[in-house]
Amino acid sequence: MHPMRSTLTRISDRLEIVTASQPVHVATFGEDVVLGLSSRPRTLPAKYFYDDLGSTLFEAITKLPEYYLTRAETEILREYGWEIVRSLDAPFEMLELGSGSAIKTRLLIEETLRVQRSLHYCPIDISPDALRESAASLVASFSNLSITGYAADYFAVLGTPDLALKRPVLALLLGSNIGNYEPEQAHRLLLAVASSLRGGDGLLVGADLKKDRETLELAYNDPTGVTAAFNKNMLARINREFGGDFNLHAFDHTVHYEEERGAVDSFLQARGAQYVRLNDLDLDLEFQDGERIHTESSYKFSLEDLENFGAAAGFGLAKTWFDSEKRFSLNLFMRN
Ligand code: TRP
Repeated sequence: MHPMRSTLTRISDRLEIVTASQPVHVATFGEDVVLGLSSRPRTLPAKYFYDDLGSTLFEAITKLPEYYLTRAETEILREYGWEIVRSLDAPFEMLELGSGSAIKTRLLIEETLRVQRSLHYCPIDISPDALRESAASLVASFSNLSITGYAADYFAVLGTPDLALKRPVLALLLGSNIGNYEPEQAHRLLLAVASSLRGGDGLLVGADLKKDRETLELAYNDPTGVTAAFNKNMLARINREFGGDFNLHAFDHTVHYEEERGAVDSFLQARGAQYVRLNDLDLDLEFQDGERIHTESSYKFSLEDLENFGAAAGFGLAKTWFDSEKRFSLNLFMRN
């Protein structure tokens, strides 16, 4: 890992933000659009879903009856949060990959403050705005909480001396975050987390479980069309930001669960042959009828998959908790 060149901004006596200057070149949205739409099969990286409208649409997805993931994970934290925080030696510090949805992180912080007087919480998030907002609201809610937030790519912080943690550490990777990485990337991410941890530190991973095709495909293709809107917003965003003329009525949201890979793949599929121009990128595209753009893979896991993932990165699977319908899992890995 490169040491990151970073700036520290102290916002209050309990909140500081570390901003990394990226050590490596990171592609821009425009570069990724040109590259992804010119390659075969065509792809658009899922990280670009979350502009303002995209984040709002995702919030709506989490309220759909068909999208059980967020509810199931929250249920596990409500039911077993007390047990999870008692699996480590208190007092510990908390490291989170992603700045955490208000509710799930709050539940764990609340439980932690029942086993120790104070807590130092270190979220890493690529979006400085999301990070600052969620951190400020957390320190306002918990008077015994102090936060060092890292506005950076996970890989730019993990394993560097910038990440100053006192042992033991409970690291969090929630929300099926891990399932949105290709297996090779997921492995690299766990290795990077392991490089920031020592023996006796824990890593709590939220992972959606393998199950029947119907349940999985409905979770990613709800009949009200919220997920379709979320997926199509990627094209709307490209139109907005790059002077594009994608006709959103001429693309369908489609999903397919590929059982061998254990992944639900989401696509935008052209209905009819069509030409698209992205003016500001000087890009002309020709789509055949039925041609697809891949936008995301959401991997699903068996307990054996999870154990193997952990073991390959130096973690033992200490305990797994499930929601009442056994659809989702929270897994506590301990660093060897
Ligand atoms: N990353 C989330 C997941 O895999 C978000 C998501 C829900 C999503 N529905 C989607 C991404 C449909 C693309 C398409 O569960």
